Amino acid sequence: MEIQEYKLESLPAGFARIRTKAAGINPIDARRMTGEFKHAGLPQTFGTEFSGEIIAVGQNAEGFKIGDAVLGSGGSFTHATIIDVPIGNLIRKPENISWEVAGSIPGVAQTAMTILDEIGPVKSLLIHGASGGVGSITVQLAKERGIEVIGTSSKRNLEYVQGLGAIAIEYGEGLIDRIQAAHPEPIDAAVDMAGTEEATQASLATVKKDGIISTIAGKKTSSDRVIPIWVKRNPKNLQHVVDGIEAGTFNWEIDSVFPFENASDAYSKVLEGHTKGKTVLSF
Ligand SMILES: NC(=O)c1ccc[n+]([C@@H]2O[C@H](COP(=O)([O-])OP(=O)(O)OC[C@H]3O[C@@H](n4cnc5c(N)ncnc54)[C@H](OP(=O)(O)O)[C@@H]3O)[C@@H](O)[C@H]2O)c1
Repeated sequence: MEIQEYKLESLPAGFARIRTKAAGINPIDARRMTGEFKHAGLPQTFGTEFSGEIIAVGQNAEGFKIGDAVLGSGGSFTHATIIDVPIGNLIRKPENISWEVAGSIPGVAQTAMTILDEIGPVKSLLIHGASGGVGSITVQLAKERGIEVIGTSSKRNLEYVQGLGAIAIEYGEGLIDRIQAAHPEPIDAAVDMAGTEEATQASLATVKKDGIISTIAGKKTSSDRVIPIWVKRNPKNLQHVVDGIEAGTFNWEIDSVFPFENASDAYSKVLEGHTKGKTVLSF
């Protein structure tokens, strides 16, 4: 992996050109670095979210002007110093939210909203991997909807997950017993963000018979009952989370910030799979 320079094309109508300030890293970026997707050919670029300042606007790009601070999402190209993004993907960055926080919101926020919308109205939800990027905001959005959350994490992050509003349970041997002790009634639904067999088995044992068991981990599971969920991009959902962070309703944890030049170190950290909140590139 290396940082390469490329020539900027003319800005298409309906697009804004942005000088990036920060960009969150999602596990999919880190997995690209390993060559997992080599069937897609080279070169491959990275990044699906960003914050930054508008430095040019194309024709028919109404509502935004040069100098505006924005954040948004875009497919696999945002880990770059200058990016061209459709205006419809942008929302304004509130002044009291840092570049690093703003640039790491879009991916996980829209994933969390998709999960809760697809699971639908439930009273209780089991989240495997509640301390990660997606987990942290899913816990808080679920609590906002009045859902009781049981969230798993390593011992190190139990207090953090509890602070987000969940009943925190350590994963590992004895997980099912611990969940049942904390929540004796069958749980309405589960979502797996860890992608482990342990999570699948724990969901099968603790979710009620007609309850939804889902995964976002994108891995094959041992049970046909596990439904995959894929993020749906929706600026209204993104705005909802940004508003909540601006108002102080939602906590946003930054695990670590790496300079763009050290992107490979940042991806390696995400690959370890124990991020607390978000890992971010700074430009
Ligand atoms: N389907 C989609 O559209 C979509 C969208 C976004 C993300 N994803 C996928 O969703 C997954 C989570 O993403 P993320 O951004 O939240 O990742 P992340 O920030 O790297 O967090 C991963 C979390 O998993 C926890 N974890 C590790 N091993 C675990 C285990 N054995 N049991 C339970 N939890 C465990 C870690 O907690 P500890 O540190 O406490 O161990 C960590 O907090 C990734 O596979 C990602 O690719 C899918």
